[in-house]
Amino acid sequence: KIHRIACIPGDGIGVDITEAAIQVLKALAKATGTFSFDFTTFDWSSTNYLERGWYMPPDGLSQLKKFDAIYFGAVGWPDVPDHISLWGLILPIRKALNQYVNVRPTRILQGTKSPLEGCKREDLDWLIIRENSEGEYSGQGGTSHEDSEHTVATEVSIFTRVAIERIMHFAFKAAQSRPRKHLTMVTKSNAQRHGMVLWDKIFYEIAPSYPDVKTEKMLVDAMTVRMVLNPKSMDTIVATNLHADILTDLAAALSGSIGIAPSSNLDPTRKNPSMFEPIHGSAPDIAGKGIANPVGAFWSAAEMVRWVGEEKAADALMKAVEAVTARGVKTKDLGGSEDTNGVTEAVCRELEAI
Ligand code: NAI
Ligand code: MG
Repeated sequence: KIHRIACIPGDGIGVDITEAAIQVLKALAKATGTFSFDFTTFDWSSTNYLERGWYMPPDGLSQLKKFDAIYFGAVGWPDVPDHISLWGLILPIRKALNQYVNVRPTRILQGTKSPLEGCKREDLDWLIIRENSEGEYSGQGGTSHEDSEHTVATEVSIFTRVAIERIMHFAFKAAQSRPRKHLTMVTKSNAQRHGMVLWDKIFYEIAPSYPDVKTEKMLVDAMTVRMVLNPKSMDTIVATNLHADILTDLAAALSGSIGIAPSSNLDPTRKNPSMFEPIHGSAPDIAGKGIANPVGAFWSAAEMVRWVGEEKAADALMKAVEAVTARGVKTKDLGGSEDTNGVTEAVCRELEAI
């Protein structure tokens, strides 16, 4: 079987880690011998935007639709305002390809540790489900009286019943599939009295359909405290586009480093390809140095492999990654002294041995 993958490395360390992920995926396919990948790379990036004036060509989205999955590095570079780069590439893909769920698992990998004192591996194992289609990132709003002392800007959050119901069903099913069957829903429904209140309402409407799932509601500000002080008390978490964006960076840091955290942008209807990317950005501060942690990229690749139906291979890849971190072969952000290449080659060698 051949899996057709569109690769968009993008900017900065997105390029390094995508290259590393492709190398590891090739080694994985070779080791299993039952499937292969056909990679097509797209040079859509900020550098090219500055030269050509576009991130994606006009038929970019329809080109992507032909693939089984999309692998994404990161987009954003200091020469381009971040709202231009995000809205030029990643956000249109998520929206146009109906990738309405963003799944972000967080746990402490073998041989790594949490910055939280006394936090053991079994104390931090979360699955964060991010609403990926609307809310605070709806892109609605505008600016009037620009460049005057009376400038007014609005940034309108849009919440719809359709989108809230589908993310809640996904989150309840995800919670149900995990041993603890525990779902925490995060909003800010004390200060925000329309969209967030609708989230709360729909959450409690849907809960009775999943009687085996224990539910609770948290305000996002209190949630940050609880994640730090009592990580063990949570399992599956569902939150809005903005809230989950913030909480998952915190979650990644608490699990060891932002460099290990994966994400899956899913179209659960499978009518469009889903997209897999580490949660970190292009990291201009370490770009071009060859020291980016590729583990988040490998974990994202494993989730992609799982999504296209190769469960066993996905497990084998994660096992190889953790065998490597367990041996202390890690980049600096995890307290090690290896570079991107060193970790990548160690994972490939581990895969050759399976
Ligand atoms: P960032 O995630 O790129 O970097 C934050 C910090 O974490 C930096 O100190 C960086 O060196 C470190 N870091 C990130 N990934 C790492 C890795 N794999 N290994 C080791 N260290 C790592 O976030 P920042 O600095 O806020 O954003 C930089 C650019 O990336 C901006 O243009 C931003 O808009 C963009 N961005 C793009 C995303 C995407 O494409 N999905 C997501 C987040 C940010
Ligand atoms: Mg983010």
